[in-house]
Formats: sequence, C-alpha cells, structure tokens
Amino acid sequence: MFSYRHAFHAGNHADVLKHLTWLAVLRYLGQKDTALQIVDTHAGAGQYRLDQDLARTSAEADAGILRLLAAAEAAAAQGEAVPDAVADYLHTVAHFNPDGKARVYPGSPWISQMLLRPQDKLKLFEVHPTDVRLLSKQVQELGTGKQIEVLRRSGFVGLKALLPPPSRRGAVLIDPSYELKTDYPAVLDTLEDALRRFPTGTYAVWYPVIGRAEAHTLARKLKAMGTRLQRPWLQAELNVGLQPEEGNAARVAQGQHHAAMRASGMHVINPPFTLANQLRAALPWVLAALREPVGASWAVTDHTP
Ligand SMILES: C[S@@+](CC[C@H](N)C(=O)[O-])C[C@H]1O[C@@H](n2cnc3c(N)ncnc32)[C@H](O)[C@@H]1O
Repeated sequence: MFSYRHAFHAGNHADVLKHLTWLAVLRYLGQKDTALQIVDTHAGAGQYRLDQDLARTSAEADAGILRLLAAAEAAAAQGEAVPDAVADYLHTVAHFNPDGKARVYPGSPWISQMLLRPQDKLKLFEVHPTDVRLLSKQVQELGTGKQIEVLRRSGFVGLKALLPPPSRRGAVLIDPSYELKTDYPAVLDTLEDALRRFPTGTYAVWYPVIGRAEAHTLARKLKAMGTRLQRPWLQAELNVGLQPEEGNAARVAQGQHHAAMRASGMHVINPPFTLANQLRAALPWVLAALREPVGASWAVTDHTP
C-alpha cells in the first residue's frame, strides 16, 4: 500500500532540521529525573546505511548530513565554533560511526533511544511491512526488553491510548511521509486530540514546505491550534534553495517549483523555553553549509500565550 521508504531520504536537509530539533527537545526534557514517555508516531526503519543502494540512488544525504559534517570539519580546522545544537547533533551521528566515516544515519528512533534513561519508555509506531521488520529486528538486538516497544499499527490511531503517560511527562514526534493527502488533516486531528488528553506534553510535528495547498494550510493551522488552545508553540523552517537553473527565488519561497522538496518545517507545541534561541543560533550556520544559490532562507517564529 505504501511506497514511501525513508531510506531514500535519510540524512537529507529535512532530516537535519527534524533531528537537530528533536534532539534539542529531548536533551532539555532529560534534565529532570522524572520518567519520560517518548512516542514516535511514524518511526521508519530505525537506522539507515548511507553507502548502500537506497540512499545512493537519491544521494540526498550528500546535500544534507554529509555536507554539514564537511562544514563542521572545515570549521574545526579553522578553530571556529559550531553552534551547540549542531555540535550535539553531529556528535550523535558520529556516535553511530565510530570509525569516523559517516556510513550509518540514525533515524528518530535511534536518536530517542540514545537519550533514554532507565526510567524512560520509547514507543515506536510503524506500518510499512519491510520497515517495521527492520525496526523490530534492530530493537530486539538492543535487548532493552519492554523499555522500547515497536507497535505495528497507525501512530495516528495508537497515540490516543498512550496519553497521558503515567508520569505525566512526555514528548511525541509526529513525522508522517504525507504520501496520503489524508495525512494532513490526520496530523491536526491527532494533535488536537492528544492535547486534550495531555495538554502539557511536548509535541513536534515535521511538515514539508511544498507547492501543495494542504502543506501551506497545515503550517498555518498548526500555529492557529496552539494559539487557540493557549499553548506555547515554535515553528522553525529551513529552505535550502535551488540551483539557478532550477527556478527563481519567488517560486521557491512559495514552494512552487518542480525540483525535489527544498524546504520543510518543525512545529513544536510546549517547546523547551531554550529551543527558540538554540535554533536561531543553529539554523543560519546549517543554512550556510547546505544552501544552494537561489532562494535559501530560515525562520524561527514562536508564540507564548
Ligand atoms: C518520514 S518517515 C519516518 C522517519 C523517522 N521518523 C525518522 O525521522 O527517522 C514516515 C514513516 O511513517 C510510516 N507510516 C506511514 N503511515 C503511517 C501511520 N499511519 N502510522 C505509522 N507509521 C506510518 C511510513 O512507512 C514511513 O516509514
């Protein structure tokens, strides 16, 4: 039924924005000892090989994590500092590549898993038959027992039963592929329901910025929902732009171009109060490393009721 495989996209610019933000959220929440329940409603396969078929077919990581790693190396050679959130993200990727060659890319389940403390739980939803098999196998190999659970059902549906978490502390990543048009309204419905069940949870939603009415509407409606429900929110967008032959800046800004997706956003409800400043320091640096010549931009907007 589903043709989307995250392995084609692992480590691209959208993953960079998503995982850098998610990591910063979890780091902050991990500062308090109380148990955390972390939920990934769309987990994917777990870890990805950047040097094998699927990733090499698209080569998206070349213009994402691999370019960022090269920029960090160049900065280190010049004695220049890298913003904290970027450095933390790159160290995390490096942790999965102990020989110093970036062959493995950790997806969101693995980033979450790295930060788990004994008292925390991680719930991973995935429906793709191949990816859920890969994910389950990797999780089993960790031998963490019930601390990490792989659930082969829709995260949109399954999230309800997990909220509120017993400890009343938790974070949820909602990261659909938007392969189905219905994913857009499902994100909004799921989030609204989740906020009713567990208003103080931290929720992070990834969304594409593309020339599709549903995508524009989603980013706007996410902001409106947070404001209406009187929750603090933050929206971060990264647009890596285009090669000159691919389009012009105005069309890129509106997501109306025919090249591969060049921009995406993370919407965080109940964000750590430190997150906006962390991202305002990190994203210009990330963009300087990943930008193409035309129409690149970044933005962080936030709202506190
Ligand atoms: C963008 S990928 C996830 C990437 C992952 N979160 C990461 O950052 O490493 C989206 C995943 O959602 C899965 N999926 C699609 N619909 C789903 C649903 N209703 N519930 C759970 N997973 C779903 C797809 O098979 C795909 O693996």
